[in-house]
Amino acid sequence: MTPAIEVRQVYKRFGALHALHGIDLEINTGEFFALLGPNGAGKTTLINIIAGLTLASSGSARVKGHDVVAEYREARRMLGVVPQELVFDPFFTVRETLLFQSGYYGIKKNNGWIDEIIHHLDLADKADTNMRSLSGGMKRRVLVAQALVHKPPVIILDEPTAGVDVELRQALWRFIKQLNRNGHTIVLTTHYLEEAEALCNRVAMLKNGSIVVLESVRNLISNISGHRIRLRLSPDTLPTALQLLAISHDQGYHVLAIEECCQLENVMAALRAAQTQILELQILQPDLEEVFVKIMHSAENLKPVSV
Ligand SMILES: Nc1ncnc2c1ncn2[C@@H]1O[C@H](COP(=O)(O)OP(=O)(O)OP(=O)(O)O)[C@@H](O)[C@H]1O
Ligand SMILES: [Mg+2]
Repeated sequence: MTPAIEVRQVYKRFGALHALHGIDLEINTGEFFALLGPNGAGKTTLINIIAGLTLASSGSARVKGHDVVAEYREARRMLGVVPQELVFDPFFTVRETLLFQSGYYGIKKNNGWIDEIIHHLDLADKADTNMRSLSGGMKRRVLVAQALVHKPPVIILDEPTAGVDVELRQALWRFIKQLNRNGHTIVLTTHYLEEAEALCNRVAMLKNGSIVVLESVRNLISNISGHRIRLRLSPDTLPTALQLLAISHDQGYHVLAIEECCQLENVMAALRAAQTQILELQILQPDLEEVFVKIMHSAENLKPVSV
């Protein structure tokens, strides 16, 4: 089966900066895929190349088998992109913006689908409001709507929930999950790792323009062994005997890593011996955020390449 997205040996230079450094990536039809990485890792650059908005310095990208340069129109028609930056025409209303966007794809009668999108993104009250009068979160909803007007089989969302309230976040994910169930391929970038963990099947982690991890969410998390204990103590000092287990100390909470649950007894004994009182105790399971932090620290060798 033709992959939804196929990226081969993509390099991108901005002057001396190598923003992408030999990216190879295949995303299958029907996947809910997360593209993660710290600020400046190259996520938006890669998305712009896939969307045909930026030219790669070398390498190629295809959407549903269509080369994004040689077959730009076909590739673009297969793809809906929710951009990270808010860009819009202030003089159109929400509905006009969506009708205009439909026209751009040569779709004449699109009111039924536009109504559906407006409903799912909770924009009905604002359908006849000019774009310039919308709040930031509302504008972002319109960007999502715009990406969906031509029912693209592949949808890329570049930080769609930045600055968006809880209610829309939930409504948006319900809608996007439904699109995914209906066969649409979804690619998501986000700095909210719990969102990626809850929604996505597979993840690519990008660092300094290179993919440092490409794995299923389940495997990534299950590769982190053991449990975490989160403690608030009085006095707020970890007894020396436990310092080897410590992985963080933040805002009065100590997090310890243990391999087996039975080690909890030793932790309790060490606290008792030090006459340290437990104010709070939680057992945490490893999550994607922990994997991310670990990987980003362990991939320190991959520095940005400048010439
Ligand atoms: N048009 C441009 N001209 C010069 N440098 C650029 C340009 N666009 C991006 N860059 C640089 O390329 C690198 C990758 O940027 P990119 O926007 O792809 O990162 P990102 O992973 O999307 O980050 P964020 O999480 O902050 O959105 C950064 O160092 C950025 O400064
Ligand atoms: Mg970005």
